[in-house]
Amino acid sequence: MTQHIGIFVTGGIAAYKVPLLVRALVRAGNEVRVVMTDAAKAFVTEATLATVSKAAVLTDRNEFAQPEHVAHVALAHWMDLAVVVPATANTIAKLAVGMADNVVTTTLLAFSGPKLLVPAMNDQMWLNAQTQANVAHLQQAGWQVLPPATGFLAEGYAAVGRMPDLPVIETFIATVQPVAFLTGQRVLVTAGGTRERIDPVRYIGNDSSGQMGTALANVAAAAGAEVTLITTATLPTLPQVTVVPVADAAAMRTAVQATFPAVDIAIMAAAVADYRPVEQADHKLKKHGADGLTLALAQNPDILAELGATKTHQVVVGFAAETNDLLANATAKLTKKRADLLVANRVGAGLGFNQPTNAVTLLAPDQAPVALPEAPKVTIAAQILRHIQQVRA
Ligand code: C5P
Repeated sequence: MTQHIGIFVTGGIAAYKVPLLVRALVRAGNEVRVVMTDAAKAFVTEATLATVSKAAVLTDRNEFAQPEHVAHVALAHWMDLAVVVPATANTIAKLAVGMADNVVTTTLLAFSGPKLLVPAMNDQMWLNAQTQANVAHLQQAGWQVLPPATGFLAEGYAAVGRMPDLPVIETFIATVQPVAFLTGQRVLVTAGGTRERIDPVRYIGNDSSGQMGTALANVAAAAGAEVTLITTATLPTLPQVTVVPVADAAAMRTAVQATFPAVDIAIMAAAVADYRPVEQADHKLKKHGADGLTLALAQNPDILAELGATKTHQVVVGFAAETNDLLANATAKLTKKRADLLVANRVGAGLGFNQPTNAVTLLAPDQAPVALPEAPKVTIAAQILRHIQQVRA
């Protein structure tokens, strides 16, 4: 889905990373227009940003270059989404009081769509009570804020204030929700394929990348939920997602059972191995020669079925990845595992696993199947989460 994204660059050192962000957003299929303050020009050039965004950059110098239209109003009309990155303490203060003294603040004042703030500054400037009050005020006014990370600052020491890594900012932009439709909800998501150890260097695994589950966790968090993601994958997540890394089915089960009682919604998107080696060697197994090697496998517990059997108030959602007889197999799983919703997706060559897009069918007891056509996984995630809200209602 092409979005018209306005990137507003203000005068902080992290501005030097913005061209790479713009390039990633353009590569992902978005159209980007950049607006920059004069202070930002000390850190990144207008020519670089124009080249990577494939469009002229709006500045205080060229705002009136085309008298036939008012540039800041035209841009505000064009944008679907505005991102201030990096946002300095100075620009945050101006935005908080509604000032419009340069092309960045003027355009943002004229824009009523979703507005994202990515503050990055010195730790003391960030922790300053006035800066914190300004950010809190903007959040109340509907701005969505990606808090700065803790790490190495330009000043040469580690502290809070660092601009989050670009994949996290890309995730923040890609998962933004116009309405916080999951505020107050606690959501548990599993993601990724489990790795069942054979020995210290080998495992039985599968092709699940964890993208679908991670998208569900990020979108749920962007929609206001309190999210725990139990995952075998290491993909970018929003800072407000609590990530519990696990490797195998046994560890995933322990973590799920510890989290499940306190949640409202549990989404089991992980591809959990059905079997594990009975024995896990503590040393690398030697070659067995021409006779071959037989691995004895034991069945893993079905985590989803256990949740279905023990749920009280929770909505339990499962996934069914099938290569054939999709709906028949998925409907059987819905009943057998006592899930409230089953997300069925066809997998195989070029489908489902390890792809940025997905196409799924939603199955709920006594309801007609709902087919969601192929779309990016974050879009599918938002549709699934909205459907879960309907199932609950
Ligand atoms: O039976 P199958 O593995 O195809 O079912 C898939 C669904 O069951 C997914 O939601 C998956 O997370 C869950 N599952 C599980 N524990 C297992 C196997 C699958 O929770 N041992």
